Amino acid sequence: DWTVQAFIDQKVARIRDQVGDKQVLCALSGGVDSSVTAALVDKAIGKQLTCIFVDHGLLRKNEASDVKKTFAEDFDTHFIAIDAADRFLNKLKGVTDPEQKRKIIGNEFIYVFDDEADKLKDIEFLAQGTVYPDVIESGGENGQVVKSHHNVGGLPEDIQFELIEPLDTLFKDEVREVGLQLGLPETIVWRQPFPGPGLGIRVLGEVTEDKLAIVRESDAILRDEIASAGLDKTIWQYFTVLPDIRSVGVTGDARTYDYTIGIRAVTSVDGMTSDWARIPWDVLETISTRIVNEVDEINRVVYDISSKPPATIEWE
Ligand code: XMP
Repeated sequence: DWTVQAFIDQKVARIRDQVGDKQVLCALSGGVDSSVTAALVDKAIGKQLTCIFVDHGLLRKNEASDVKKTFAEDFDTHFIAIDAADRFLNKLKGVTDPEQKRKIIGNEFIYVFDDEADKLKDIEFLAQGTVYPDVIESGGENGQVVKSHHNVGGLPEDIQFELIEPLDTLFKDEVREVGLQLGLPETIVWRQPFPGPGLGIRVLGEVTEDKLAIVRESDAILRDEIASAGLDKTIWQYFTVLPDIRSVGVTGDARTYDYTIGIRAVTSVDGMTSDWARIPWDVLETISTRIVNEVDEINRVVYDISSKPPATIEWE
C-alpha cells in the first residue's frame, strides 16, 4: 500500500543510513526526475549534497534561470551551475547526423560534469533520477537502438561512485506526487518530459545559435498559448522543431524566403507510443499567428499529425 509520505520517510531514512557523514553528488537537469531526486536527498542529508547543473546551451527559454532560482534559493544543498554553451556548440559545429549529435552531446555532458566533479573532494555517492521505466528500458531485451538516449547523470565508466537511485521503483505520476509533497514548485513538478540532448535534436541538421534562438522563441510562444488554453496538463509533450528547409512566402507585398517551424504535440502514457494531440483549431491559429509575427525568419507553421509508431515523438 503506497502512500507518498511513507515512501518519503522510508527513503530519507534509507539514504541517511547509507550515506552516513559522507558526501553525495547529483547531476541536476531541472527535469522532474533529477529534481525530485535532489529534493529527496536534500531532505535526507542537506548540506552533504552537491548538485551540478550543466547548462549545455540547448535548454528552453528561461529554463536555466528557473532551475538556478529553485535550487540556489530553496535548498540547503551546495549548488553549482556551469555555463557550457560554447563548449557544446563548438563540438556540434558542422555535425548534421542525429545519432552523432546525440553522442556528442551525451559525451560532452559527461566531460563537463567530470571536470567539475574532479574539483570536489571526498564524494562517495552519486544520486541519479533513475525511474522505473528506465530500469525496464535498459534491460534491453531486443537490444535494437532506435535512438541512443542521453540521460542526465549517465555515469561515466571510470568514476567510482556508489549509486543512490531512490526513485527507481516509481512511475512518473508517483514521482510527481513525491515532488509536490516535498514542496517543489509546480513549474518543475509538472514540467513536460525534455530530452537530454535538448534543443540540439529539435534543430534538425546542423545546430547553430541562430536556429536555437528560433526554436527557443517559437517554443516559448507555444508553451504560453497551451497554458493559456488550459491544455498544459493534458498534453503529454508539446514543442516546436525547426526542419532544415525554407519556403517562399509573402509579407506585405514583399517576397520572403524563410524557415518553416513544426509544432509537435502528443498525448501519451509513457512515451513509448503516442498520438497527436487534438489541439482546438482556434488555439492552433493563435499559435501560428503569433509565431510568424513574433519570430524572425519564420514564414510558415505546420502541425505534425503523426502517431508513434511509425513516427517517433522527437524528430531526431
Ligand atoms: P521518442 O522521440 O523516442 O521519444 O519517441 C520518447 C520520449 O523520450 C524523450 N527522449 C529522451 N529523453 N534522453 C531523454 O532523457 C534522450 O536522449 C531522449 N530522446 C528522446 C522524448 O522527449 C519523449 O518524451
